[in-house]
This record gives sequence, structure tokens and C-alpha cells, in this order.
Amino acid sequence: MAVLTEPIHVERVAKSRLSGIDFNNLGFGAHISDHMLMVDYKDGQWQEPKIVPYGNLELSPAMLALHYGQSVFEGMKAFKNDQGTITIFRPERHHKRLLKSLDRMCMPAISEELFLQSLSALIEVDAGWVPTTEGASLYLRPFVFASEAKLGVKVAEEYKFIILTSPVGPYFSKPVRVKVEEEFVRAAEGGTGFAKCAGNYGGAFYPTMLAQKQGFDQVLWTDAKDHKYIDESGAMNVMFVLNGKLVTPKLSTSLLDGVTRDSILTLASAMGIEKEERRVSIAEIEEAFKNKTITEAFGVGTAAVVSQIATIHIHGTDYNLPAVDSNSFQLRVKKKLNDIRKGIEPDTHHWNYLVK
Ligand code: COI
Repeated sequence: MAVLTEPIHVERVAKSRLSGIDFNNLGFGAHISDHMLMVDYKDGQWQEPKIVPYGNLELSPAMLALHYGQSVFEGMKAFKNDQGTITIFRPERHHKRLLKSLDRMCMPAISEELFLQSLSALIEVDAGWVPTTEGASLYLRPFVFASEAKLGVKVAEEYKFIILTSPVGPYFSKPVRVKVEEEFVRAAEGGTGFAKCAGNYGGAFYPTMLAQKQGFDQVLWTDAKDHKYIDESGAMNVMFVLNGKLVTPKLSTSLLDGVTRDSILTLASAMGIEKEERRVSIAEIEEAFKNKTITEAFGVGTAAVVSQIATIHIHGTDYNLPAVDSNSFQLRVKKKLNDIRKGIEPDTHHWNYLVK
């Protein structure tokens, strides 16, 4: 289905759960809004989408996503400004990345129109769930998985595209401690690291759990071949301020092309900082700590937004970053992004998509 000819059918909840939500204490991903959007793929095409009360699904235990992992997702955010206008941040860019993920996993493409109209319709229905509290937003989780029931190892012929939404606060409640990973691997060149597929996250749990037992929040993944170069941090891309320049690992097939990463790189020049996208070695970061030429490190992502890194653990040593102040690039760019999303600063890059 390329073009939606009819308005999306909505079946409303009998009783909303909205009044039970404490918008001052949201956490991340704890609450799912009243409704979800669902579309089935069968007979070689996407069928009509529908909006239904959020709830359990009836699915076959033989469905292919459970056995062979055809499952991809996106993460976006919607914001409500002081005038009550709701916008989604860069959904077109997220859609392009979804297409890359779907393609890599041999799953059917979703048209930009179906994607955007589905998001808009769902957010309109659950508009009351878009937070206005400081630092909060409505997290949007579109995902696609193989629903065909068959045990043969094959590309599925039936899928479901679902969108859930969740009012969220900050992903991390405090500056993070990351451990450079030199044993385990998240993704290798030529693998699925650039795709937002479920297996990338499941595979990261074990090394992350080990790092958490050692007192770290996240793993800083390094390249699969030599463990010499930094890739990303799993839930976020990473950026450094080195010698006064904004430096971030360049994109490859083993790391995710983050939308927040791209937005910050786009804003950097006008904010008076030179930027470099290149390979960043662990040795360079270690040296920079010794020479005091590293002044900032932070993670960037839809969920993480801009998250301060307090400590990087390299070869058994904790290296601590200096404290951040209001002149730090990370705080300035975080504010700028927030102000653009909330309509406080002009949206010169046309990143805000208006929900009608
Ligand atoms: C996001 O930033 O949207 C992510 O995908 C990170 C995590 C919540 C899975």
C-alpha cells in the first residue's frame, strides 16, 4: 500500500490510563500510551493501518522473528511546545535509516507516507501523553518483525509494523561511566552494526552486564578486528572535545548513523567549533587524558540526547573528565537542540515535523 486513501481507523480505549501517570517522575520506557498503531504485511504488500488500544497480541510461537531475528526498530521523539503544538524531530531521517535496516534484514520497505501518516495519526489520538515537563518528551518506537509462522530458515513473507509511544524523562539520571571493551564485539564491518536490528542489542547485554557488575554504566565498543578504534556505545554514539575540536568516530558498517549525531555535527560549525569525523583510537584518547587535551566526552542519541561521560575506563585505569560548565560544548549544544525542538530557537534546518 503506497498511498493512504482513507483516514486511519481508530478503535479507542474504554478508559484512558493517562490520569495515573506522574509526568514529573517518568523514567525511560516505563509507561506505554493508551493506543498503538498496527499494520500487517501479507500477499506482498502492506495492508491498511489501524490504531487500537495498547495490549497483548496473539502470535504464533513459530513466528520467524523469534527464531531467526528478523526484527528492526527506530527510536524518535515528539515534543509539545508552550503553545501546545506537537512536533516530531526529524522523522524523515529516521525513516531513511529504517529503510536501510529493513533492507539489510531482507524485510519489506515502508513508504515515507505510511510511516509519517501513521506516526501523526497515533500521536494525535494520544496527544495528551506528550509531556510538557522539563527534559521530557514522547518517545516513539516504530518496529517491524517477521510474524510468519514457519520453522524453516527463510526470509519471512508476513510482517507486522507497530508503533508504540511512551512518555519519557532522561535516559541517564547522572553522568555515565563507560568501559572500553577489548574482549567482546558489538559489530564487525560487513555485519549488521549500522542497522537498528534487535539482535544488536541482545548481543550487547552480556558484555554490558559484566561491565555493570564492575561499576560501569555502558560499554564503549571498539572495532572487531583489533579493538583499537572506538565505534559507539550501544545506546548512543560518542563524541569528544579534543584540542578544542569536536571529534567523533566516522560512520562505517559497524556503527549506527545516529540522528542526534548528525544534528550535532550540523550545528557545530555555527557554534564555533571545528569538527572531525574520523577514526578515533583508544591510544589517542589515553594520550589525550595524559596531556590534558581531552576536555569533554559525551554520548549522543535519541534516548540519551546529550549525556555527559564522567569516566572512561581504559586498560584497567579510570580516566576522569573535567567537570562541565555552561561554556562546555555539550551543554550548549544540548540546550540548542532542546530550544529548536521546543520552538524557542528558529528551526532553520526544518527538522521539526508538525503533527496535524
Ligand atoms: C534510541 O536512542 O532511540 C535508542 O535506540 C537507544 C535505546 C533506547 C535502544
